[in-house]
Amino acid sequence: ARVVVLASGTGSLLAALIERSRIPGSVFEIVAVGADRDCAAVGIAREAGIESFTCRVADHPDRGAWDEALREHAARAEPDWVVTAGFMKILGPRFLDAFGGHIVNSHPALLPSFPGAHGVAEALAHGVKVTGTTVHLVDAGVDTGPILAQRAVEIGDDDTEDTLHERIKIIERELLADVVAALVTKGVVIEGRKARIL
Ligand code: GRF
Repeated sequence: ARVVVLASGTGSLLAALIERSRIPGSVFEIVAVGADRDCAAVGIAREAGIESFTCRVADHPDRGAWDEALREHAARAEPDWVVTAGFMKILGPRFLDAFGGHIVNSHPALLPSFPGAHGVAEALAHGVKVTGTTVHLVDAGVDTGPILAQRAVEIGDDDTEDTLHERIKIIERELLADVVAALVTKGVVIEGRKARIL
């Protein structure tokens, strides 16, 4: 199956997906990487010989035009699935219309707790003893789509946002790659808010 990955950051999740996609017998290949800014993830794609595109909001007259341009970039790669791996933009209606139901996100907290761009820091600040990672389908909201898989990560007394996030990412990398492989081979059923991988 053809997968497009969208990223905005260091690309550690992207790197893990590339590694998994290149294991003999892998069921998916990453056909393009998109970013909304210059970021390390684009460099990782280039080094891996994967086509990449950068689609910045600032390069477009408005958010709608950006939404359409991002859709067009992704559509050119003819993806079966889109994975947002540390992509720090909310996808617009045009993109969601084109790929909705086939967009997967990874979030470094146990949704519905601590959605948004600071989930790790907020879990730490709240004093919870367990947080984790959530892989879910993307809908029009912020980290609100049907949940596909979760894994718990204990918070240590001397954890900082960085040490905790790095530990979450170790679990996240594995879970995201497992879920993508399962989705492309088995598919998913949505019943109301719930998603079940077949
Ligand atoms: C991941 O923890 C992801 O869940 C969150 O941002 C982080 C991306 O890390 N949205 P990286 O850019 O893949 O290293």
